[in-house]
Order: sequence, then C-alpha cells, then structure tokens
Amino acid sequence: MRQIKPSVYAVGAIDWDARLFDRLIPLPDGTSYNSYVVRGNEKTVLIDTVDPTKTDVLLDNLVRLGINKIDYVVANHGEQDHSGSLSDVLLIYPDAKVVTNPKCKGMLIDLLDIEEDKFITVEDGDTLSLGNKTLQFIYTPWVHWPETMSTYLVEDRILFSCDFFGAHLATSSLFVDDNAKVLEDAKRYYAEIMMPFRRQINSNLDKLAEFQIDMIAPSHGPIHDHPELIIEAYRDWVSETVKNEVIVAYVSMHGSTAKMVSHFVEAMIDRGIAVRQFELSTVDIGKLAMALVDAATVVIATPMVLAGAHPAVIYATFLTNALRPKTKFVSIIGSYGWGGKMIEQLTGIMSNIKAEILEPVLSRGEPKENDFAAIDKLADDIHAKHKEIGITN
Ligand SMILES: Cc1cc2nc3c(=O)[nH]c(=O)nc-3n(C[C@H](O)[C@H](O)[C@H](O)COP(=O)(O)O)c2cc1C
Repeated sequence: MRQIKPSVYAVGAIDWDARLFDRLIPLPDGTSYNSYVVRGNEKTVLIDTVDPTKTDVLLDNLVRLGINKIDYVVANHGEQDHSGSLSDVLLIYPDAKVVTNPKCKGMLIDLLDIEEDKFITVEDGDTLSLGNKTLQFIYTPWVHWPETMSTYLVEDRILFSCDFFGAHLATSSLFVDDNAKVLEDAKRYYAEIMMPFRRQINSNLDKLAEFQIDMIAPSHGPIHDHPELIIEAYRDWVSETVKNEVIVAYVSMHGSTAKMVSHFVEAMIDRGIAVRQFELSTVDIGKLAMALVDAATVVIATPMVLAGAHPAVIYATFLTNALRPKTKFVSIIGSYGWGGKMIEQLTGIMSNIKAEILEPVLSRGEPKENDFAAIDKLADDIHAKHKEIGITN
C-alpha cells in the first residue's frame, strides 16, 4: 500500500512469479494487478480490484490504510484480473456500489454473478463527486474489450486507464524508473493485447488528448509520472508507419528450410534491411508479436507436413493473423518432398492481413542453386517494395 498523491493510494498486488497469462501469453517479468483508492472528504472510491489469486493482498492493503467504508468501486473493465476480487470487496464493504458503464455491468453480472442493485451506471463523460475530488468517466472502448473505460481524477489530473498503457512488469517501483524496460514490456503488452484494435486505440488517443494528464495509473505495471513517454510510444505503434524490417518465422525438421532461411537472412542484411529470425518450435510468442508491431514484411518458412505447413507454423500464422499487424508484404519459403497445399493453406489463414503477397519460393528437398537464386529474387522484390513505400534507399 503506497501513497501516489495526498489521498490517492496504490493498493493492488505485485505478481512476481506469474509466467503465463490467459494460459497463452508468456510473462518473462511477471505482472501486477493495480488497484487504487481515492479518498474524497465525503466519499471513498476503490478503482478496479485485483486478480482473484491476490484478493488477500488487496483486502490487507485496505485494512492497513484504515478503510472502514467504501462508497464506490469503479470497474473500468470486466476481465477477472481486475474484477475478480469484486465479490469479496462487496461482501466486506456492503455499502459499496459498483460504478461502471452499462456494457461492463452486463459482463460483471455474467462473469461474477453480482446483483443488479449493486450497480450505478455511468455514460461517457459523466462525473461523480467525492466531495473535494471529482471522477470523470471516459469511454475508451477496445483496450482491449468492448466495455473498457478510463477514469480521470479531475483535481489531480490522474488517468486511471486500466489495461490501456499497461505493462506486464512486476517491480517494486511505484513509478516508471527505467524507461527502456517499461517501454519494452508495454510494447509486448500492446502487441499481444491491443494491436488488433489499433484503429480504435488511435481514436482513444485522440479523445484523451483533450485532457490534461499529469499521471497515467494503469492496471498493470508502474505508474507513468511522465505520461508523454507512453503516449508517444502508443502513437508510434498505432500509426500507419512501418519500419524497414523483415520478420522470418520458420521451422525446419531436417534442415532444408533452415538453409533457405539462412540464405534469405543474409540477403536481407546485404540489402540493408533489418531482419529478425524466429524459430517457431521454441519461440517466445511475445517477442514475435512485438516484432510484428513495426515490421514492413513477414516471411513464413516451413517444410510441407502432411500436405500442409508444419503445425508450429500454422499456430504462429494463425496468431499473426489474429493480431492484425500493419504488415505491408508477406511471402512464404518452404521445402517439400512430393506435394501439398501449404501455400493455399497459409495464405488462407492470413486473410485479416491486408498485405501484398510476394512470389513464394519452394524447393523440392534440399535447396539447389536455382532455389537460392529464387530467394535472391524475393530479397530484391522486398527491397524494391520497401523502396516504393519510402522506408529504404
Ligand atoms: C512428418 C512428415 C510429413 C511430411 N509430409 C509431406 C507432405 O505431405 N508432402 C510433401 O511434399 N512432403 C512431406 N514431407 C517431406 C518434407 O516436406 C521434406 O522432407 C522437406 O524437405 C523437409 O524440409 P526440412 O528439411 O526443412 O524439414 C513430410 C516429412 C515429414 C517428416
């Protein structure tokens, strides 16, 4: 439990040991579930709760802070890592009302079976007085569910943004003290959670530009007391701009595809294009997702397996498609023994990615001279395309 500003406290939990989120997303640096108390001279509010596994930490913090009565619990988001302690909080503080938007109210009833009469619903822009302090609710949909909103503490200019601007980072620092580390984890978080909703996030950034924000207090990771750092990073990530970078995501069972990938990577370096190679049977998908935020081109490389792409490649391609990166060009490299439909399969999976598909290169068995020549041609095509959009000379 720590004070952020007079009468504003952080009461959430640090989860140092968490290593996987949603049974899907690697958490190399753990995470935190941030929850905040604002004490007005008339009313006390709790903003968001914590993951159900950390309910005891939240309740302990409230006791240590001497909170005998909570008037309102603001739920910015319905997902259980922020709402999961709500039922326990309402049990211990029976006078508390849950303040949220109508969509989130529906979700909290569905997910947590909270009684209808516990809710006060707010519309976009509504305010709630705590006496000498005022909360304003700002709808920020799709960061990352449809009901997400942010809460602005008017007098202190603090934005409680929930998942928006968050980072999976367990740290004892209340505020950002290592820009590079926080930006890395925030980018990972954006890539995995927010990227599919890039356009909605852009609109939310425009909407927030109208507010004077001195601090951003998200629900994961440290508080931004210099919010321009994370706002500018988000502006870059959601922009239409791509970088002179190529991602090569590959698997090879017996080395043929690997030889083609090595040749391709060298060809990219020779042409002055940044390249990142990811081996998909061992990859940290978070690193792949982060690379997808900026790269102009993605090349998938796979052997033919049972008439299609290798299953690890299918998984990564499926995930890439679901994340809807701003990739402009895509190609496929591969090796096969007798035949199959991996090109059709992979291009079919990538239907969300509005990218131009550059001529794939397939070798029968080990790559030969003509296959390496075809890879050089693909490298030339990528270079020409990057030139066309003005990201390389
Ligand atoms: C389990 C398995 C399934 C395969 N299925 C096919 C197939 O359906 N069609 C095909 O053309 N080749 C198939 N192959 C052959 C490989 O695609 C071929 O050996 C290729 O050169 C392997 O590339 P790599 O050395 O990068 O692993 C299969 C190989 C294995 C091991």
